[in-house]
Amino acid sequence: MELVKLQIEEEIAIVTIDRVKSMNALNNQVYEEIIAHLEAIRANDAVKVVILTGAGEKAFAAGADIVQMVGQNAMEGRHLAWLCHRAAELLETMRQVTIAAVNGYALGGGCELTLACDIRVAAENARFALPEVGLGIIPGGGGTQRLSRIIGIGRAKELIFTCDQIDAQEAYRMGLANHVVPQAELMDYCRAMGKKIASKASYAVSVAKASINNSENVDLPSGCAREQDLLGLLFATHDKGEGMKAFLERRKPEFTDF
Ligand code: HXC
Repeated sequence: MELVKLQIEEEIAIVTIDRVKSMNALNNQVYEEIIAHLEAIRANDAVKVVILTGAGEKAFAAGADIVQMVGQNAMEGRHLAWLCHRAAELLETMRQVTIAAVNGYALGGGCELTLACDIRVAAENARFALPEVGLGIIPGGGGTQRLSRIIGIGRAKELIFTCDQIDAQEAYRMGLANHVVPQAELMDYCRAMGKKIASKASYAVSVAKASINNSENVDLPSGCAREQDLLGLLFATHDKGEGMKAFLERRKPEFTDF
């Protein structure tokens, strides 16, 4: 049975974790299907934006599947972490912009998937937490690495050590959620944001994403040096000429993506 749905709406791909009875808990099959969909989207030049969400009204994903994990050994646990990291790596590094539409609980591995997305939009009922140390494990799908980069190390340590759940407004205050919207408007809000991003020069958007990501991993002079080279590269593209000519001619640009 398919546990993750893929829907393509012109330049926007919607990936929906669909295991409502288990609060969209993430077992190996769910992770494998997310990875397969993201790999297919990555190879699809027509798609500019990916929205990742959960089916139903209660959960984005309530974490890795505890029913599966309870009987697993160390190598199986290692493989589960690999699956989560592979999905996160794709969300973070793929050319397309990734938006998490957080429609309820985003706990454990579910929260970690949102952390790998470029942008998080929370429904008013969204709740975020990393409850792993309460289960005798750690947020091993990137949670100990990415949360502190988004909200700062002190707040990240507190959330991970206490397992506290935070609501959408608190996530917004911390900079974890970019926006908070009524649940009924969540998908349309994300679609509108996706359409706005897709209307820009998409190669430039993907280069901006790569340059921002690079800034997290290198010192400032190295990041700035790379940024200068990337800007130079963009001067060789059709879309740079078109974008600037369109501005000067007071018309809408017609981008070709290169
Ligand atoms: C398996 C889960 C689940 C999970 C919920 N369910 N979360 N099954 N794994 N992570 C199941 C419940 O067992 C139950 O199944 C059904 O979903 C509904 O859940 P309830 O608990 O009855 O609902 P509610 O009282 O509303 O509470 C919702 C909840 C709670 C707050 C989300 O279910 C919860 O705390 N879940 C666990 C969250 C968690 O600890 N996640 C982190 C996992 S560790 P039945 O069959 O009884 O109806 C992790 C590690 C990742 O994510 C690291 C590397 C990959």
